Amino acid sequence: MAGPVDSYAVMGNPIAHSKSPVIHTLFADQTNQNLRYTAMLVEINGFREAVEAFFENGDLGLSVTVPFKEEAWQLAVKKTSRAEKAGAVNTLWQDENGHINGDNTDGLGLVADLKNNNGIEIKNARVLVLGAGGAVRGILEPLLSEQPSEIVIANRTLSKAENLVELFPGSPLSASSFGEMEGYFDLIINGTSASLQGDLPPIPAHVITPSTCCYDMMYGAEETVFNRWCREQGAGKTIDGLGMLVEQAADQFAIWRGVRPATNLMLDLLRADLS
Ligand code: ATR
Repeated sequence: MAGPVDSYAVMGNPIAHSKSPVIHTLFADQTNQNLRYTAMLVEINGFREAVEAFFENGDLGLSVTVPFKEEAWQLAVKKTSRAEKAGAVNTLWQDENGHINGDNTDGLGLVADLKNNNGIEIKNARVLVLGAGGAVRGILEPLLSEQPSEIVIANRTLSKAENLVELFPGSPLSASSFGEMEGYFDLIINGTSASLQGDLPPIPAHVITPSTCCYDMMYGAEETVFNRWCREQGAGKTIDGLGMLVEQAADQFAIWRGVRPATNLMLDLLRADLS
């Protein structure tokens, strides 16, 4: 007789607009995996308790979103090295010894979207990353693994960019303020939360050329303010973060289920749903 269905969830606050249940449910259909995936609204002070109750109940895996990724990092007893460096965890599961394991698939998702969905070469590229918060810290190790020639982290608060550089001694990372970047870049990634307020990070137009690819980790029904500005400055390509969302979910699914779903159909579906 079949046991209870394998159960997964996303925890966050707020959570109502999360696309993760739709994504993982469709991934399960697509790969013939029998599982249930729900969204759980967790009280700001109730994350640890909610995670412990979840796994004690025999449920198998969690996606973690804002504002709990740092707390998930603390809670995970075992972490991958990229999660360790990221200081944040977006994927939790329990191993056979009952230990809570953590990974961070955000950077993997970004790299997969750039390379596989958009054909962008990161190896030997000169990369500019805007922002130095949790979102940027989460992508640095996977980006560095692709061996860019250089990554400049530019941030409004320079000291936060410098702190991130110190996490990766010997790497081609450097810190800058927004006004002081020299030359142009092959790839520019916006990891600031400025667009949430409809703001643009104040970067000089000379960093963009017709061969520059600009990537906004945010997405929406409309073109983001950042991508619009980059296009107007003559960027060769602009990409928003919807593909990153789908790819990081595919990597979570692979961790939990041992099979990585194809993502192109999902991306088309979500894109159609946004408009
Ligand atoms: P997240 O988890 O999304 O990274 P965060 O840790 O609060 O959130 O970081 C937000 C990032 O966006 C920071 O790099 C922040 O710059 P500061 O470190 O100087 O605060 C950046 N940011 C937010 N609003 C911005 C704005 N209006 N212009 C430029 N940068 C902005």
